Amino acid sequence: MESLLIARNLRKSFGSVTAVQDISLEVKPGECLALLGPNGAGKTTTVEMLEGLIPPDQGSISIFGKDLKKERATIMHDVGVMLQDTQLYKRMSVRETLSLFASFFKSSMPVDEAIAMVELQDKADTHLVKLSGGQKQRAYLACALVNNPRLLFLDEPTTGLDPQARRMIWDLLLKHKTKDRSILLTTHYMDEAEKLADRIAVIDHGKIIAEGSPQSLIETVCGKQILCFRFAGEQTSDQIFSTLGKDLPWIKDSFVSGDTYELVASDQVNHMTELLRVSDRTGLVLDQLELRRSTLEDVFIKLTGRSMRDA
Ligand SMILES: Nc1ncnc2c1ncn2[C@@H]1O[C@H](COP(=O)(O)OP(=O)(O)O)[C@@H](O)[C@H]1O
Ligand SMILES: [Mg+2]
Repeated sequence: MESLLIARNLRKSFGSVTAVQDISLEVKPGECLALLGPNGAGKTTTVEMLEGLIPPDQGSISIFGKDLKKERATIMHDVGVMLQDTQLYKRMSVRETLSLFASFFKSSMPVDEAIAMVELQDKADTHLVKLSGGQKQRAYLACALVNNPRLLFLDEPTTGLDPQARRMIWDLLLKHKTKDRSILLTTHYMDEAEKLADRIAVIDHGKIIAEGSPQSLIETVCGKQILCFRFAGEQTSDQIFSTLGKDLPWIKDSFVSGDTYELVASDQVNHMTELLRVSDRTGLVLDQLELRRSTLEDVFIKLTGRSMRDA
């Protein structure tokens, strides 16, 4: 299937800061691609280049088979954009704001239909400044959808919202997806990427470090399960590694988070029995031992050695 968006070798620096080192990506028709990465990874810089808001230092972008640099005005009629920090005219009502947005496009849906789509009928005449965070975000989403775009860009669509407001945005986006429309979103929330994306590109330091469906990323990078264990007592991880390392060479591969060890490995059941046997013999007491399902957070840790939350 022909991709709607093809970006090749994008690069962008701001003075001495290289925000995007080398990013290539594609979005296929009907697909939701999530750029997942920590703060400062280069997500906003990447989408702003794809939206034609900032020019790349290097690289090429084509959308709907057209060169973005040359044909941005035509392309944008079929594109929706929701920025990370949208500041629209706070003294305008939801309906006025949408009418303004609708006027930018060759074709758009009736304003009341856009308002109903994001379930803001009873706020249609309310000024944006009076809306809650979730309502405001839904109003901005309606602006991004008013031209019924083939390709929708969303930069951290639910950051700062409470769980209920986030779920509402997710439901709206999942509904939008059923119309076979494409979405490129950025997020630093794993649950959001897992919920919405068909494909995830994990981004760190301005580069894509892994790519695939949520499930295939988890399975290829981490395996389905992770072995977690913790010892009673006050030993440092160096002491534990030196006590166990000879018999359990794999223990050095585990990730230490606080006093818990997490091991990404394929034969955890064998590791589990070995661990029980050897710790018993060496006098170390295990006070926690379990297998848990791997997550996208584990993928990030395995790939970067850092937790996405601490990055
Ligand atoms: N206009 C700018 N001027 C200077 N540095 C910038 C600018 N925009 C982004 N950066 C820097 O580029 C890096 C990537 O930022 P950004 O693309 O906003 O990341 P993300 O959206 O993933 O948090 C960060 O180090 C950020 O400080
Ligand atoms: Mg950002």
